[in-house]
Amino acid sequence: MLILGPDAGWSQYNHSMTETRNRPVTPEARPEDRADHALRPQKLTDLIGQEQVKENLAILIAAARQRGEALDHVLFYGPPGLGKTTLAHVLANEMGVNIKITSGPAIERAGDLAAILTNLRAGDVLFIDEIHRLGRAVEEVLYPAMEDFALDIVIGKGPSARSIRLKLPRFTVIGATTRLALVTAPLRARFGAVYRLDYYDQPAMEAIVRRAAAMLKVETEAEGVTEIARRARGTPRIALRLLRRARDYAQVRGEGRITREMAAQALDLMQVDPLGLDDVDRRVLKAIIEKYGGGPVGLNTIAAAISEEADTIMDVVEPYLLQLGFLDRTPQGRVATKLAYSHLGAAYPEEGDQPRLL
Ligand SMILES: Nc1ncnc2c1ncn2[C@@H]1O[C@H](COP(=O)(O)OP(=O)(O)O)[C@@H](O)[C@H]1O
Ligand SMILES: [Mg+2]
Repeated sequence: MLILGPDAGWSQYNHSMTETRNRPVTPEARPEDRADHALRPQKLTDLIGQEQVKENLAILIAAARQRGEALDHVLFYGPPGLGKTTLAHVLANEMGVNIKITSGPAIERAGDLAAILTNLRAGDVLFIDEIHRLGRAVEEVLYPAMEDFALDIVIGKGPSARSIRLKLPRFTVIGATTRLALVTAPLRARFGAVYRLDYYDQPAMEAIVRRAAAMLKVETEAEGVTEIARRARGTPRIALRLLRRARDYAQVRGEGRITREMAAQALDLMQVDPLGLDDVDRRVLKAIIEKYGGGPVGLNTIAAAISEEADTIMDVVEPYLLQLGFLDRTPQGRVATKLAYSHLGAAYPEEGDQPRLL
């Protein structure tokens, strides 16, 4: 329910809408991501990998189109850089509708959301990135909007207060989050479809690097592509970044062609190791092993030990280390596995060898 004070005119909300729309969504604001824009697939068939998600979406789109309806609300979750924003654009594109882009932290007040909602046209997609960061009051406006396509407004205060219900056109919310656990149950329940994006496998990563290299008109050898794909930790956004750096390196130190050697040297220089671990990943593992006897140790303790944000460790570092089997999550905290020790060349403590810090 949105409560407007006695003198809250709609113009005020229209003003804040412009602000919300123009405020950049944090992850897209980096210059490299803007450059990625040009490489962003436009159609479902341009997307590489995520076969199951694509198949489900193809059905969702076809069914909605056949019925001439707006797409059901869709929620994507998974680590950053796997294609959530891209999929939102692709869905809007495939449906032939407009997409309005905002994010959880950008919608500060319920009025901001009300202004956005009242400006939507039938069928439009409202993409809400980092949807787990929506404020409570804002979420409460979103519930009836998603469910009944209605906006409840109370005008005035006390006995003279009046409640009116504004009808909204049928539209589609596409939400994206790196933290499904932080999306409240009532919000999650309002999405008709929820899809998890997973890390891409090696063949998909190679196809993504090849496609981007072709679009960037950079010459590559198959082994160069393999090397970049292998070190990009299953993440398209990272693959594109590594490709750009390898291109620079090959241009300056080589003959412009990304061979295996050029790729490997460029990535070594960036401290991206053969498994795709970067400096932060290694510092996390080293802290657990060297400072806390291999764990268990709490996330915040690790974050403080290496001066990184706990959020970054949780969203970016941990999912990949878990996937590699380098890290275990126990109720007591994080534990480095034997694989992690051997990757870092550290001696794994034998039984009774070393006191474990608890
Ligand atoms: N399936 C895919 N095929 C090809 N390129 C992709 C794919 N998924 C993502 N990308 C590329 O990776 C970049 C990052 O994707 P993005 O949608 O911004 O990730 P997220 O929103 O999940 O953080 C995009 O610029 C896009 O070009
Ligand atoms: Mg995104």
